[in-house]
Amino acid sequence: MTKPRHYLQFKDFTRDDYRHVFDRTRWIKDKFKRYEPYHPLFDRTLVMIFEKASTRTRLSFEAGMQQLGGSAIYLNTRDSQLGRGEPVEDAAQVISRMSDVVMIRTFEQDIIERFAAHSRVPVINGLTNEYHPCQILADIYTFIEHRGSIQGKTVAWVGDSNNMCNTWLQAAELLDFNVHVSTPPGYEVEPERAGLYGTGHFEQFADPMEACKGADLVTTDVWTSMGFEAENDERMKDFADWCVDAEMMAAARADAVFMHCLPAHRGEEVTADVIDGPQSVVWDEAENRLHVQKALMEYLVLGKVED
Ligand code: CP
Ligand code: NVA
Repeated sequence: MTKPRHYLQFKDFTRDDYRHVFDRTRWIKDKFKRYEPYHPLFDRTLVMIFEKASTRTRLSFEAGMQQLGGSAIYLNTRDSQLGRGEPVEDAAQVISRMSDVVMIRTFEQDIIERFAAHSRVPVINGLTNEYHPCQILADIYTFIEHRGSIQGKTVAWVGDSNNMCNTWLQAAELLDFNVHVSTPPGYEVEPERAGLYGTGHFEQFADPMEACKGADLVTTDVWTSMGFEAENDERMKDFADWCVDAEMMAAARADAVFMHCLPAHRGEEVTADVIDGPQSVVWDEAENRLHVQKALMEYLVLGKVED
């Protein structure tokens, strides 16, 4: 049996893979907008395993698989044997014998790596503590739709050096753009945890205003990610000056866009006038989860499909 291809972190794909997936995304999205059915995954099954909460990820994978002609099954820790200590390796053996592709949202990256090592079918990372590659896939596609190629552009990341930040940094290395990162002291990027080859594609700034200067895209995320709730009170104080506001947007390029993976907390990591303002593309960004993930599933299950 040939080993399946997985999507566990952004650098699992090459630049060529991304070119293909973005081309397919455009084609699949256009077709969907014309109400033309497209069922390349007829009779295929996606299993979605959630160990953390979700709105967008569940919705976009479930709707996406259905729109491609297949079906999706939702499992969570609470009402499956996963929450009762069944080894992840055993779960992978069983689940992958009954499905064609698996999406997992969990805690440590190690869990998804172990699952994938024992899976007969492709495994997709739907968010771990370390990475959120499907979201960055949607973010970059959204940038391309609004502004063209991201190569050589500058992304300002304001806030926590979390799973989103790490994935932006991997994407910058792969697709050749720059990230200006500003985190509060003590929350700086850890290149090894981010899975980076080097430090050539990002720069750290103590002052978030400095990070936003000249940026083509300004983005942020919650101060407290899922799994880190115990640190919430401390983080509220530490991140108080890392709120993306109109002044930061004004420091960016005049045509800069604002992104947030959502869910957002207005008045914490972003002001309402920015996220609800004219530079914000957050709703397109959320919608594009659907389209990019349909292209991703098509690619992982069927390989390079050309129209
Ligand atoms: N952005 C994102 O992954 O949203 P959910 O947590 O709602 O899936
Ligand atoms: N960094 C956030 C993203 C939520 C989609 C978290 O991990 O909770």
